Amino acid sequence: MLTGAGISAESGVPTFRDAQTGLWAKYRAEELATPEAFHAQPRLVWDWYGWRRQLTARAEPNPGHLALVQLQARYPELTLVTQNVDGLHSRAGSRDVVELHGNIALDLCSRDGTPVSQYRDGGDIPPRCAECGAYVRPGVVWFGEALPRAALERAEAAARSCEVALSIGTSGLVHPAAGLPLLAKRHGALLIEVNPSATPLTPHADFVLTGPSGVVLPALVQAL
Ligand code: OAD
Repeated sequence: MLTGAGISAESGVPTFRDAQTGLWAKYRAEELATPEAFHAQPRLVWDWYGWRRQLTARAEPNPGHLALVQLQARYPELTLVTQNVDGLHSRAGSRDVVELHGNIALDLCSRDGTPVSQYRDGGDIPPRCAECGAYVRPGVVWFGEALPRAALERAEAAARSCEVALSIGTSGLVHPAAGLPLLAKRHGALLIEVNPSATPLTPHADFVLTGPSGVVLPALVQAL
């Protein structure tokens, strides 16, 4: 199962292709979520993630997230792979979530990528790693960066072996994540898409459940 930003839309977390709101309206995610942007304007990028961290911290899992918890309880072999960095699947109660693009709540050292538990004194923005003094960065995958190998391998293994693959709330535009549903289909899985709109994946899906995941997923679980 693969989820995208759409499953968190009903929790109030803007999707990537929605226009950014307020202060951030003049920026595009693709301009800020890159190593180059962080190198050139560390404070701007850090403040943008601060805004997004506040958004996700205020957000609550919605019925779509909760339906997937029920599905995993019913089918323990289910692998939940998400492109989202908001942590809402885990907060809803899903277990062993594969976070392909990392987690926005994580702080990493920008020099060596290790988790940072303590900032260096001095009040720098972005804060600095207490160990080496390099800037702290959010633990998310930026455009142009490789996905965490272990997460991608787990996701690909699940896609190759599953009997049913659900693609939920993703525009299917960003690879390698976007390739997972088709990888599952090539290995014989039944492919179901849940999205209010059509995506490049729609023509390949065996079933297309058109609507918001917060409505469709509870109905799907209810019908099983
Ligand atoms: P997008 O913003 O590209 O797509 C969101 C999808 O959710 C769209 O297809 C919408 O139609 C759909 N959607 C909107 N509301 C929905 C709802 N209530 N229920 C179900 N679906 C709904 O987000 P992603 O596909 O997740 O990558 O984007 C993939 C990646 O692109 C992100 O992980 C991020 C971004 O660049 C990185 O940051 C590396």
